[in-house]
Amino acid sequence: MEIREIIKQRRTIRRFKQDPIPEEVLRDLVDCARLAPSASNMQPLEYVVVTEKEVCEKVFENLSWAGYIAPKGTPKEGEKPTAYIVILVNKSRATRWIGHDIGAAFENILLAAWGLGIGSCVIASVKRENIRELLNVPEEYDIDSVIALGYKAHESFVEDNDETVKYYVDEEGNYHVPKRPLEKIIHFNSF
Ligand SMILES: Cc1cc2nc3c(=O)[nH]c(=O)nc-3n(C[C@H](O)[C@H](O)[C@H](O)COP(=O)(O)O)c2cc1C
Repeated sequence: MEIREIIKQRRTIRRFKQDPIPEEVLRDLVDCARLAPSASNMQPLEYVVVTEKEVCEKVFENLSWAGYIAPKGTPKEGEKPTAYIVILVNKSRATRWIGHDIGAAFENILLAAWGLGIGSCVIASVKRENIRELLNVPEEYDIDSVIALGYKAHESFVEDNDETVKYYVDEEGNYHVPKRPLEKIIHFNSF
């Protein structure tokens, strides 16, 4: 798939097939994050990849899903993520542009994953202290977010809509995500 197509088709996925993602694929996703732009090239981000079933289960218990439709958007047994990439910030390397570094890195992961049929959900609503203890994350690192991953088990459709920001799920379990229309956000030459 062409990169432009991947960018436009990628949507957040919250239900997953249970086939494991091969370790070399997960390594490659982190490699894609590693190569993202970084302010002053400080490269403050590191990653914990979680694949073991029992650890995945414990990570899952510390995440909140789909706030607008909770608890409907929380994956049920048999549709939970099969892997996670936890994004860590090495505080001694972080700059004031850390948010940009993180966004660039996780978008690389999401897009590379989508190109392989792997769905993802960025989760910022995380019980960080529990995750720190579970994964032995040193105090010198902030836990930014968790990327939930797995082969996608539903569809998600964009709807041009400036009236609401709230996504919803239809009877088939597919998501519909409002996005502000292009003409509402683009300004040529002058605002
Ligand atoms: C920084 C960030 C934090 C997010 N945190 C959560 C979260 O805690 N739980 C969740 O279910 N989705 C979370 N999401 C996913 C958003 O809800 C999703 O990106 C948004 O609804 C738009 O859908 P789309 O990704 O399909 O375009 C997060 C996304 C971003 C970028």
